[in-house]
Amino acid sequence: MEDAVVFGATGFIGRWTILHLLEQGRTVTAVVRRADGGLHAWLGEHGVPATRLTVVEGDLTVPGLGLDAAVEGPAGVRDVFNAAGVYRFGMEREEARAVNVEGALNVLRWAAARPGLRRLVHVSGYRVGLDPRPRHPLPEAELAALYRDKGAYEGSKAEGDAAVRVAAARLGVPLTVVNPSSVIGHSLTGEAGQYLGLAGLVRDLWTGRLPALPGGARTFVPVVTVDEFARFMAAVPEHDPEPGGLHWVLDPATPELPDLIRLLADHLGVRAPRVRVPVALIRRLPSALTGADPETLGFLTEDRYDTGSADRVAASAGLRRPPVADALRRWADRLVADRFGAAPAVRPGGFHDVAGSRTYLAGDRTSPRLVLLHGLPLDGDSWHNLLDELDADSRHDVLDEPDGTPASRRFGALVADLPGLGRSSPAAATSPEWLAELLGPVRTRPVIVAHSAAAAPALRYAAAQPDRVAALVLVSPFFLQRRPSALTRLLAGPLLGRAGADRLAAPLLGAAPPPESARRAVASAAAGLRRPGAARRTASALRAAHSPAERAALRTLLGGPVPVHLVVGELDPLTGDPGPVPVTVVAGAGHHPHLTHPAAVAEIVRRVLLGHEIMTGPLPSP
Ligand SMILES: NC(=O)c1ccc[n+]([C@@H]2O[C@H](COP(=O)([O-])OP(=O)(O)OC[C@H]3O[C@@H](n4cnc5c(N)ncnc54)[C@H](OP(=O)(O)O)[C@@H]3O)[C@@H](O)[C@H]2O)c1
Repeated sequence: MEDAVVFGATGFIGRWTILHLLEQGRTVTAVVRRADGGLHAWLGEHGVPATRLTVVEGDLTVPGLGLDAAVEGPAGVRDVFNAAGVYRFGMEREEARAVNVEGALNVLRWAAARPGLRRLVHVSGYRVGLDPRPRHPLPEAELAALYRDKGAYEGSKAEGDAAVRVAAARLGVPLTVVNPSSVIGHSLTGEAGQYLGLAGLVRDLWTGRLPALPGGARTFVPVVTVDEFARFMAAVPEHDPEPGGLHWVLDPATPELPDLIRLLADHLGVRAPRVRVPVALIRRLPSALTGADPETLGFLTEDRYDTGSADRVAASAGLRRPPVADALRRWADRLVADRFGAAPAVRPGGFHDVAGSRTYLAGDRTSPRLVLLHGLPLDGDSWHNLLDELDADSRHDVLDEPDGTPASRRFGALVADLPGLGRSSPAAATSPEWLAELLGPVRTRPVIVAHSAAAAPALRYAAAQPDRVAALVLVSPFFLQRRPSALTRLLAGPLLGRAGADRLAAPLLGAAPPPESARRAVASAAAGLRRPGAARRTASALRAAHSPAERAALRTLLGGPVPVHLVVGELDPLTGDPGPVPVTVVAGAGHHPHLTHPAAVAEIVRRVLLGHEIMTGPLPSP
């Protein structure tokens, strides 16, 4: 089989291109700057064996690319894919040119010297390759104007595009240029890898920092999913028989920008900006005032693009375009789950309509064995430590499948952010109504594990639907514990909104250094609390939870038909009488034992699951 060499192999586009080349049965050499093994691990996580992959070190800015002659292999190099580049805003001209212009030319010269070369596939960009008669080199005055107008990234991509096309014609290199629009996450999983440009706009929308939308009613920022684009890349050598092609790879059915933003705002449960600001006006205003990066404004046009030649290649390769609205929603789910690249999600979730709340939930919606409800001011990510413990602990193999699947995966766990808290939008419905709708599709009888304030909806749901719940595990049941002082409750609102992860960590987790996973949970909560209204809603939920009437009402529910198990930290003991309900005290823990002592809490949850093994089976058919 022919050899394919991929530059930029650790990048967003590069690694997906490699994945699809390997799927085609190609033998691939990946050129990376540091061979730390990350690519093999990533391919493994995506279920693609990397037996036909070789990883070599190289650098586009080094003469000869720093490549060993051995790269060539016995079969010789057939196809070269250049997906390397520096994609950043705010660079200096020379920093961008070194890779996007000189580096791209270095790849071209190296490819030109491969005797068996069939194709060089170069990734340009949908806004940069529009010139039908590219010129290179440009006189310095023109070059300076190009970089002044477009900025270093876009300027270098435009110069690089021209340089590569001119040099390929001169050297007789069989070149194909592919021009992707904004590359969004995978069409099925939403998995992303770039958080610039359009993703930055979605981040502003999500964090409430998009008071006005740049551009006009017809502004068009097309997208292409990374899998569609990478499959296209991998298909070029076989399905685009003639070199010399320039292909615009994007989805012409992408909604115009205001509609795209509205679609995502509805999906995420946030408000879309009603005001639009023309790009010409933004250009005249200081960026400190508008918050707009001048380098991104060039993408905000009403231009349309001819995808005809790309469509022919895709048709020949049997590639199908995924539905763009679904892909956009999945991408937005994943952007939020991964906190826009700040913290890759361990168990990525997404947004669903539950009782009028755009609810963020992860896991098994129909047959969970566990339902996990977080306390204040946390979100569903606070359960990851516990789930990791349940997954990792094989001591209780009586609960595990014969194939070794951990018990917690057998029935799955459903983790949801409560309405108005974490990532979920508020609902007019009460929390118990919301919980009833969340659990409506559930066909098993799960154990509900609720932390602190979430004990309230959990107890009320169990009281209303006792035959649908196997047991309740209430971790730090606030209504049986010391009330926070009135001052603490009063200050909670303003302080919560401004607290960073570090400032939140000490009061939540105590003085001892917390496990890394607990820090991640607190960082997720802190990021959520900075969103508009989140801290206020959390503080008011905190105040409502601690009213004496509410505490008394919840105590009466403890005697219901559903078995209840209480878990408290030694440092935050019960002050009220739980009656005959069993209580486990976690030594050394405070109010968040599932964060600071996850193994101990997992042990209790396992025991409860074991005790209710028969009860957690499927519900009888109605
Ligand atoms: N993503 C998009 O939406 C989009 C849209 C249009 C065009 N493009 C173009 O597509 C290309 C790839 O974009 P991407 O999103 O995949 O970017 P990316 O995730 O940042 O990947 C860039 C890749 O280039 C490599 N690289 C950077 N400098 C290098 C050097 N001196 N020598 C060797 N490798 C080097 C990086 O290696 P390290 O991991 O070592 O840094 C990385 O593997 C870029 O040219 C970009 O302009 C991207």
